[in-house]
Amino acid sequence: MKAFTTIVPGHTNWSQKNKMKELFNEYVKSIETYIMFQIKQETARLTPELEAKGRSPIALAMGAPVAPPPELVYQKLIEALKIPQIHTYSTPKGENFYLEAIAKRMKNRFGVELDTKTEIFSLIGSKEGLANFIRALINPTTTDSEKDIILVPDPGYASYTQIIKTNGGKSCGIPLNKENKYMPDMNKVWQQLQNDGINTNKVKAMIINYPSNPLGATCSLEYLKHIVDFCKEKQIWLISDAAYCDIYFEENKRPHSVLEIEGAKDIAVEFYSFSKPYSMTGFRLGWVCGNADAINAFGRLKSTIDTGLFKALQKCAAEIINSKEGDDYIKQANLNFKNKQNIVVKGFRELGWEIKDEDIPDATFYIWLPIPPRYKTSQEFTQDLLKTSGIVVVPGSAFGNNGEGYFRLSAVSTDEHLQEVIDRMKKDGFHF
Ligand SMILES: Cc1ncc(COP(=O)(O)O)c(C=O)c1O
Repeated sequence: MKAFTTIVPGHTNWSQKNKMKELFNEYVKSIETYIMFQIKQETARLTPELEAKGRSPIALAMGAPVAPPPELVYQKLIEALKIPQIHTYSTPKGENFYLEAIAKRMKNRFGVELDTKTEIFSLIGSKEGLANFIRALINPTTTDSEKDIILVPDPGYASYTQIIKTNGGKSCGIPLNKENKYMPDMNKVWQQLQNDGINTNKVKAMIINYPSNPLGATCSLEYLKHIVDFCKEKQIWLISDAAYCDIYFEENKRPHSVLEIEGAKDIAVEFYSFSKPYSMTGFRLGWVCGNADAINAFGRLKSTIDTGLFKALQKCAAEIINSKEGDDYIKQANLNFKNKQNIVVKGFRELGWEIKDEDIPDATFYIWLPIPPRYKTSQEFTQDLLKTSGIVVVPGSAFGNNGEGYFRLSAVSTDEHLQEVIDRMKKDGFHF
C-alpha cells in the first residue's frame, strides 16, 4: 500500500511508474475507460471551442433521463433520513422491507412469485449486479482456448463484453438484426458458433436484454420460452437484463419478465434497475431475482465486496415502487419519451434518413440509425457530429461488431434540445 501511494503524479520517475503499472493484472491492462466516460472526457475537452462557436454540447450519449425523479422519492428520502439508526450498515442482501416491496412489484407487474429469503438480492445499480454475477461465473484465465464463454447480444450494452473481459472470460455475440427481428433462433446461433470453431462446451451463460439497449427492440413471450428451453437444454445460466422493462409505448406491447415462463427459475436470473423508469440513475438502486442457487452464490461473493445499500435509499425505493405516484410517473415519462422519439424521427426523416414506421422502437428512449454512407466508420461520423455541431451520440461500434455502420442517440434531453439538434444538423450540412 505504501508503494502505491508513491506513484501519485509528481512523486515518482518514469521507470518506477512503469514498473508499478506492470503489477496490475492482464485483464485490467487490456481494457480502456468505459466508452461513456471516454465520450464525456472528449466532450469536456472540446467544450470551450464548441461554446465559442455557438455549439454548446448537447448530450445524447448516456441513457440518463434529464427529468427529475418523482417528488415522492425526495419526500420519502427526507423522512427516512430522520429515522433513528438509519445511518448504520444495511446488509448486502437488502432490508426486508425492500425485498418485500420488490416481491410485491414482481407479483403485481408480472404475476411472478418470489421468496424474499432466497430469490431476491439488492444491487448498487444493475451494472454492479451484472458485473458481480459475471465475476461469480467465470474462472479467470489468460489462455484464450481455456476461457469461459458468455453469449451476449450484438449489438448490446457495451458493459457486458468489458465485464466479461476484465474477469478473464470471453464473450461471443448473438447477432441481432432486422432479418431475425432481433429474436434469433438460438439453435442456429449455437450451430454457427461451432462452425466458427468456438468450443461451445465453454459456454456458461447467455445474456438477453429486452427491451434492448441500443436497439429499443422488444421480444415476444414465445421467444422468451424459446430462450428458456434452449438454456435448459444446454444447461447454461440465463441472465436477463430487464433494465428497460418499464419504458414502453403501447399497453399491448408491454415487456415481459423471463420469470413468467414456467420453469424459468431453474436456470434464470433477472436484473432490474430504478435508474431508467424513475429517472434515478444517480441513486444506484436495483435488484436481481430468480434462481435461489444463483442468488446464493452471487450473494456470497457480493457480501465480501460491499455492505449493501444505504437504508434511507432502500426506504424511498420501497415506497415508490408500489405507489400510484410511481406508476403515474412512469406513464407520464413514457408519453414524454414517445414525444421525444417523434421529434427525433421527424427531424431525421427531414434530414434524409429513411425511417420506416415498423422500424420505430416500441420501447426505450434509444434511437438506432445508420450513419450516412459517405462516412467509413461510425466513429468517424460521431466525431464529426461532435466537433462540428456539439451533438454527442455514441458510435455503433461501441455496442459490438454488428453495431458498426450505426449510431445510437438517447432521446432523453429536453424537447427544445432535441429540436436544436435537428436545427443544428440542418444548418451545419448534415444529411443522410
Ligand atoms: C442494458 C443496460 N443494463 C444495465 C444498465 C445499468 O443501469 P444501472 O446500473 O443504472 O442500473 C444500463 C445502463 O445504461 C443498460 O443500458
